[in-house]
Formats: sequence, C-alpha cells, structure tokens
Amino acid sequence: MYNARRVLSITALMGLIASTVAVLNGGSCSAATGLTCPTKNPCCSEFGHCGDTNAHCRGGCDPRVSAPDACSNTPICQDLDIKMFDRTSWSRITQKPEDYNGEADDYDFTLDKGSITREDNMLTMMMDEENKGTRLSSTRYMLYGEFNARMKVTGSNGVISTMILMSDIHDEVDWEFVGAKTGEGQSNYYFQGQTDYTNGDTHAFPNTADEFHDFGFNWTEDKLEWKIDGVVVRTLKKADTMGWDKVSHFPASPSRLQFSVWPSGIEDVSPGSYEWGGGAIHWNQGPFKATIQSISIKCGESRSSEIDVAPDDVSWQYSMSQGNQTSLGQASFQPSSEPYKASDGGLSLHVSSPFTLMVTLTLSLLYFIF
Ligand SMILES: *[C@@H]1O[C@H](CO)[C@@H](O)[C@H](O)[C@H]1NC(C)=O
Ligand SMILES: *[C@@H]1O[C@H](CO)[C@@H](O)[C@H](O)[C@H]1NC(C)=O
Repeated sequence: MYNARRVLSITALMGLIASTVAVLNGGSCSAATGLTCPTKNPCCSEFGHCGDTNAHCRGGCDPRVSAPDACSNTPICQDLDIKMFDRTSWSRITQKPEDYNGEADDYDFTLDKGSITREDNMLTMMMDEENKGTRLSSTRYMLYGEFNARMKVTGSNGVISTMILMSDIHDEVDWEFVGAKTGEGQSNYYFQGQTDYTNGDTHAFPNTADEFHDFGFNWTEDKLEWKIDGVVVRTLKKADTMGWDKVSHFPASPSRLQFSVWPSGIEDVSPGSYEWGGGAIHWNQGPFKATIQSISIKCGESRSSEIDVAPDDVSWQYSMSQGNQTSLGQASFQPSSEPYKASDGGLSLHVSSPFTLMVTLTLSLLYFIF
C-alpha cells in the first residue's frame, strides 16, 4: 500500500510541474503504452508531451518514446562539491530553465519550477499556495557515484521533501521525507518506472524537521546504499533484484540528482498521495521550506567495469533498437565525445556513432502490465 501511494505521488508531482511549466504540447507520449512522438514533434518530455523545444529534448527527454536520436546528448558527470551556497555556487543555478541550452559548464543545477532563496550561504526551496512547490535538477547525469546533501526538511502536514536520482528512462533512487512523519525518512527505488510495491522502506532518525542531517546514496554497479549522517541504513544488492524476466530490476542508467518540495495535501493529487502525506496542507502555515546547506557528487562511472569512459567522452547518448508489436525495442546508452551544448543557439541533435553499446536495457510492454 505504501508504495502504491508513492507511485501515485510521483505522478502527482509530475502533473503539478507539467501544469505550471509552459510547454507547447505537440501530442502525448508514454512509455507505459508505447505511444511514440512523431518526427515533427520528436522529443518526449518527462511529462509525456511531444515537442521540439529545450523543455522537450533536454533534461528528462525519454528516448524510449521519442523519435530516433531526437533526445539531446546529456552531460556526463563531473565531481561537484558545494560546501555552501556562496555567490559563486548560487550563480551556477539557472533560474530560467527555458533558456537552458545545455550549458552544463556554466550551471550545476536548473530550477525547473518554483522558487529558491539564499540566506546565510544556504539554499532554501520555497513552497507556497501560488508556486505549489519547487524542484531543482542537476544539469549533469551520473551513472553510479557517491551523493551527499546536508538538508533540513519540511515538517508540515501534506508537504513532501525529496532528494532523488532520476534517469530519463525513469530509473529512480529516492530519499523522501513526509512532513507529517518527522522522525523518519523513506527510501525507495524504481527500475525504469515500473511499479513495484515492495521496494520502499522507512528509517527512523530523530527530528527531521528542525535539524540539518546528511542524506546520501552510494550507488555502484553492484549495490545501492542509503545513508543518514554518514551511516548506511539500507543496502540493496543488484544480485537481489533479479526479476522473473531474468533482468536485474536495479537502477542502472545515467541520472540527474534532484531536490524538491511539493504538496501532497491538495485536491489535485490522488487520494492515496493525500493520505500518505498526512492529509491537508494548511497553506496559512506556509511558506514551507526545505533548506540545503551543502551538496557533493563524486562520479562513479569511471570506477564501473560495465562502462568504458574515454578521456574525451563528455556526454551520454541513447539509441534504440527496433521494436515490434509486442516489444518497445531496447534502449541502450553509451558515453560519447559529441557535445551536449547547442553550438548555434538551437538544439544539438546528435548523429549516431558506431560505438560499442555499453549497457543494454530491455524494455517490454509486459513490464508495464505486471
Ligand atoms: C561506496 O561504496 C564503495 C563500494 O562498496 C566503497 O568502496 C566506497 O568506500 C563507498 N563510499 C563511501 C563514501 O562509503
Ligand atoms: C519482438 O521483439 C522481441 C524482443 O526483441 C522478440 O523476442 C520477438 O521475437 C519479436 N517478435 C516478432 C514477431 O518479431
């Protein structure tokens, strides 16, 4: 039941963001149904809209249901160590995501929605009745690595604070803090967006609402660890995620690190999310805040035996093999030396290169049915 609500909750978050981010809607797309974007509006955004803007073809573009090679290459990880949000680190967050054109050398994060403030060299994500929540995404995509953030999360009913890793094919690793349940964190993961009611867990620790704590993930090709204050509270071994289909249901694709604060206690969300988050939000107690003091990312791809990142590789590139009526085909990705930044102010749509496919991800509609 817990996970059922959780699945609903992420959907609710996406819906809320989609409804407030201006995107030209050139039709719908969905990995769950295999509905793919036409060449005219080739990119499937993370919200399931087809189009050809940055909002569709950059962060979150789902290669499984976009036209072949339509999604932009995504920037590969570089170590990041934000000890505090001084003017320099603050200036490396773009607050105009619609203008973001792949400048990952200039920006560490995009503010996808909502608003942030800087005080005492800390970053606060704000939520009020008007903005209905805030989300930040790293501009770079990490495949494995060590991730830490020192945060103070929201402790109000109907408000969720998160730190998650999310890939464009919806592999996901979560820390979630339910405002109504100060005193615990919820860990979870998803393999390519598939619903699984057994993936979540809860971890007690004191006083999440009023204090800063270190939250972390240590993600390798063999295992995932969730950490609180430097202590591993949960370990998931890849070997223990083998599905009936003989595929490991383990997150294993390049992912953005995201932080958000969003409302579960409003009428737009499903009854499951509403209940999970502790009922109604009391907007008059807002604005609600989640504060980040520091963030560190240590890249993991170069320590992986699965992938071979060459010194001149700067981006990730997806390609799809042909599907048929019973299969969506296979999404695979590889490191590439092709740029992720548009050179002429437009989108840089890459050409396919004949590199060895490093990782192959099998997709099938059956996954989504079960
Ligand atoms: C993360 O896991 C790897 C592999 O188990 C280990 O070598 C490394 O020390 C861990 N990192 C931290 C910060 O615990
Ligand atoms: C469809 O693709 C799947 C997966 O690649 C394959 O196993 C199956 O045989 C294909 N079916 C047909 C009719 O080609």
